[in-house]
Amino acid sequence: MEKGNTNKILTPFLEGLKNAGASVDLVYARRLKINPCIGDFQCWFEKIGDCIHKDDMQSLYTKMREADIIVLATPVYIPLPGEMQNFINRLCPIVEPILEFREGRTRARLPKTAKISKFVLVSSSGWWEIDNFNTVIRIVEEIALNTSTEFAGALLRPHAGQLGKFPEKAEEIFAAARAAGIELISNGIMSEKTLKIISQPLIKEEELRNAQTQAHLNAKEK
Ligand SMILES: Cc1cc2nc3c(=O)[nH]c(=O)nc-3n(C[C@H](O)[C@H](O)[C@H](O)COP(=O)(O)O)c2cc1C
Repeated sequence: MEKGNTNKILTPFLEGLKNAGASVDLVYARRLKINPCIGDFQCWFEKIGDCIHKDDMQSLYTKMREADIIVLATPVYIPLPGEMQNFINRLCPIVEPILEFREGRTRARLPKTAKISKFVLVSSSGWWEIDNFNTVIRIVEEIALNTSTEFAGALLRPHAGQLGKFPEKAEEIFAAARAAGIELISNGIMSEKTLKIISQPLIKEEELRNAQTQAHLNAKEK
């Protein structure tokens, strides 16, 4: 959470959003009581928009119905930590149970009263390649498609564990995360150039693999 790699990118991004005039509400899924969805569809077909679980998700529904932008911040955990998956599954009550056929797929949408117009992803991963984010990006793209909102892009930090070893590069990356927040509020989009700075390689792929193998061997010797 606060001390994690994902937060290293999320914190300056949220600062940027606030600097550009947004009001920001930050919640950590792990600190909340969010029961798993049991899939009985009461929120769609019995009491529309009302989830049977009276847990911490109820206050999030209120917040999300008033929000313009939802930022999902998560590490890559092949593909998601359980708490984040529970949160995503529990989004059903804010989605309207009117299924439409759009661009060859069955899709839902948000009610007309909902304000959310964009989803953003902030994510960090351990391994070198940017492709480690593909599944998580796809998940957030699908959420945007099923809420008829826009996927506004992703702040991705591969081999995030290396940030501490490259303080100058890290500062450049945090500044770009701040800039992405400002851009999103001021221009409605985040520039490719800014997002690329956040994802830049810090070390050669082979060097990282060797260091990770060495760390594993050291742990075995303990
Ligand atoms: C269960 C688990 C699965 C993970 N799977 C991947 C993975 O598939 N690819 C990857 O690059 N990193 C993977 N990681 C590494 C984390 O994504 C990485 O350490 C991340 O920066 C942690 O972020 P945090 O400090 O915010 O929790 C995994 C870590 C754990 C604990």
